[in-house]
Amino acid sequence: MDYKAYIAQRLPVEGASREEIAESIAVPPDTTLGDYALPCFKFAKIMRKSPALIAQELAASYPADGVISEATALNGYLNFKVNRRGLAEETLARIKREGGKYGSSALGAGKTVCIDYSSVNIAKPFHIGHLSTTVLGGALYRIYGFLGYRVVGINHLGDYGTQFGKLISAYKHWGKEEEVAQGGIHAINDLYVRFNNEATEEMEEEAREYFRLIECGDKEAVALFERFKQLTLDYVQKIYEKLHVTFDSYAGESFYIDKMGPVIDELKEKGLLTESRGAQVVDLEPYGMTPFIVLRSDGASLYGTRDLAAAFYRKKVYDFDKCLYVVAYQQNLHFKQLFKVIELMGEPWAKDLVHVAYGMVSLEDGAMSTRQGKVVWLEDVLSRCVEKALSIITEKNPDLENKEEVAEKVGVGAVMFGALYNSKIKDIVFSYDKALNFDGETSVYVQYTCARAASVLAKAEGGEYGAVEPCPQEFELLKALADFPDTVKAAAEKYEPSLIARYAVDTAQKFNKFYFDCKILQAESEDGKNFRLALTRATLTVLRNALTLLGIGIPEKM
Ligand code: ARG
Repeated sequence: MDYKAYIAQRLPVEGASREEIAESIAVPPDTTLGDYALPCFKFAKIMRKSPALIAQELAASYPADGVISEATALNGYLNFKVNRRGLAEETLARIKREGGKYGSSALGAGKTVCIDYSSVNIAKPFHIGHLSTTVLGGALYRIYGFLGYRVVGINHLGDYGTQFGKLISAYKHWGKEEEVAQGGIHAINDLYVRFNNEATEEMEEEAREYFRLIECGDKEAVALFERFKQLTLDYVQKIYEKLHVTFDSYAGESFYIDKMGPVIDELKEKGLLTESRGAQVVDLEPYGMTPFIVLRSDGASLYGTRDLAAAFYRKKVYDFDKCLYVVAYQQNLHFKQLFKVIELMGEPWAKDLVHVAYGMVSLEDGAMSTRQGKVVWLEDVLSRCVEKALSIITEKNPDLENKEEVAEKVGVGAVMFGALYNSKIKDIVFSYDKALNFDGETSVYVQYTCARAASVLAKAEGGEYGAVEPCPQEFELLKALADFPDTVKAAAEKYEPSLIARYAVDTAQKFNKFYFDCKILQAESEDGKNFRLALTRATLTVLRNALTLLGIGIPEKM
């Protein structure tokens, strides 16, 4: 609930817009006089009245209701009291009623959103750079689903290109069946790296031939390619399970090879294709961009050509209202070009294509940095963080049951939260120690707060209670709980799961202030105790909903 906007809507001030009024309203340091206050000094000049008189007149005409129970004037300030009791009753009843669905809505009913995310490359390392797309995409997938949209999660596999010819050649020369069976994607990657370092001109030639064989459906070449693909998918599947992400389609680049023709024909018909040094391109100079290459001079398609076919395919098959591409900002130009080409083709849905760009993730720990030429596998970051989590947990609570399980949720959650907490476009330096700080702006802080709330509730069930006037700490927490549904909507609208991550930390902080300042189980009255227990239960529900949307696990006890 945006109280400032609510008040402003009901408060006509001469010469000031509703927005200006809302902006002028503040939360006073001492809330005994009011929860919100509007200083009337700046209106004195236009209204040609004293601030005190303005405040008095506005107070007299303000229509108090079930939301704002009172407006009073004092020394040029107009003070508002929120109906805290009403807020408490309404919010707690709603959270209790809706439980795990609190924050969801039917906003997206009948609408479809496609989300292209993670989109791994076959036979290449699944590295730290894939963290953000996987985790942000997974969060958006759940957030949109929570808001009633039909969501189609698409893993646009990088499974096409000359590198597969190279891989087959390398495998033929150096590969050992047992090694590949044993080492899986790591073994394949080693072969690929070795090819790039050691391949002779003959091998390069052979690689081109193998790629051609894959393309024309040669049995052996295709079988090897399929094998490498399956090994990669089996490997990433395990990581996807850890990160709680799922996909509805794994249609990758190779899927579109036979679907490019009609789109290219259409480009031709519409007079959009021009020749440039033998290549077929769409000229984008009038829009300040380099040409979009559709076919290379040797007739081969490109990444962009496949993306073009994929967009048309998705529109036809899913009839999306929106199609999101969760891809790093390095590809800003690619998507601007792609969307422009589709717009030039006269497709009205070009406006529904959105590049959800995000920044880079690097590790603080230099030893594992990519800059030293080493690829950082996401798998290693996850296990290292889980290991560290386990040692912290063991130290803090040696008697805890299921320590491994808790460490898994804490460690994996910490890595995910690293990619979720900051505005997505920012570059992030991931630090294990910061991510695992129990008192920081971290997932473990939120998880620990959930465990704390659960442990209070395990001590006392709580029951019915009569009317209770919330104290300031309770009120702050209630306001936050009431804000959750709006936060979820804003996260979807802005493609910004960080709003939910920040919300979770902020709400956990408010809960902890309440927990320490207001003794829950030692409240003065039975009503007061039961009210606090109800507030604790509601907080637990909301924090769980928030973490669940982000894909982060919640240990029962910590
Ligand atoms: N596989 C690509 C990469 O790793 C990302 C693909 C993103 N999706 C797309 N439709 N282009 O860079």
